[in-house]
Amino acid sequence: MENEIADKILKAQTVADVEQIRVDALGKKGFITEKLKALGKLSPEERKTEGQRLNVLKNQIEDAITKKKEELELQVINKRLKNEKIDITLPIRQKNVGRIHPVSQVTEEMVSILGSFGFNIAEGPDIEDDFHNFKALNIPDSHPARQMQATFFVDGEEGVILRTHTSPVQIRTMESRDLPIRIIAPGRVYRCDWDMTHTPLFHQVEGLVIDKKTNMGDLKGVLVEFVKKFFGMEHVPVRFRPSFFPFTEPSAEMDIGCSRAGGEFKIEEGKGWMEVLGCGMVNPNVLKNCGIDPNVYQGFAFGFGIDRFAMLKYGIPDLRDFFEGDIRWIKHYGFLPLDVPNVVTGLSMNGGVK
Ligand code: DAH
Repeated sequence: MENEIADKILKAQTVADVEQIRVDALGKKGFITEKLKALGKLSPEERKTEGQRLNVLKNQIEDAITKKKEELELQVINKRLKNEKIDITLPIRQKNVGRIHPVSQVTEEMVSILGSFGFNIAEGPDIEDDFHNFKALNIPDSHPARQMQATFFVDGEEGVILRTHTSPVQIRTMESRDLPIRIIAPGRVYRCDWDMTHTPLFHQVEGLVIDKKTNMGDLKGVLVEFVKKFFGMEHVPVRFRPSFFPFTEPSAEMDIGCSRAGGEFKIEEGKGWMEVLGCGMVNPNVLKNCGIDPNVYQGFAFGFGIDRFAMLKYGIPDLRDFFEGDIRWIKHYGFLPLDVPNVVTGLSMNGGVK
């Protein structure tokens, strides 16, 4: 009996086969079970020896069955693993995957550089209210700065507008986050404008630092280091000009030296300047509007046009082309999806980060 069962187990092909063998031998009506039940009819002497033999056999069968089951289960798993294997090392077919728009690429580049400086991302809605877009930023109703930012109003909704800049995210962040604050806020902004360097929809990155000790030197340091990394150049010609924004005091604008000689648009010292961003120390009124004590905290802020930086970096002369959706243009100026910018492996063409 022992050999017979061992042979059956050996030949079993599936877990179900083994289970059948178990039921036949050890199940409620299994032949070993029957024999064990019949022990009662034997004499005490016989019962002892026969009982021992049967129990040994039962244990042997149980062990053999467990072993065989494990063996078969492992086989099943191995077979599945083999069939379900995918080779994730295969290269993607670059040709058919489309292109990343320069605005997306440049946004990623900016976020990765400023992220490496320790800034976190903050967000706010594109559809804003008057308070966040203007009032809290120290731009009262009658202020001429309102006219400078030709605003789109939402029909029939009092005080609801499309945000004209990313600066309202400063307010939303100061309202909701703990101090100190060190954030950047990339996003879309809207103004009623249309020419070579202006479109009704464009993109900005806002920066805001609020801490107990911050100054203009910190602000300049961040911006100068940023442009060096962004353009991948040891030296980028920049100048800071005094300016005015209601939400900063003092305020400045930063220009980058560039030339348009020979139809080529490039960074160059001593030829001309292109304004790329506004910045300054956060106006104490803005801090007060957000419930922050200006006698304890100060901060600096900056806001720049992503599209302008993209034009400068990649020599794109007309901003309006960004939004035409022309497939030939995106093929020429677009980026491969796998060239994800980061400060470790470099940004995109033009040298990347040193
Ligand atoms: N929000 C300004 C604009 O769109 C840009 C700006 C200037 C942002 C100075 C700032 C800043 O954070 O400090 O014209």
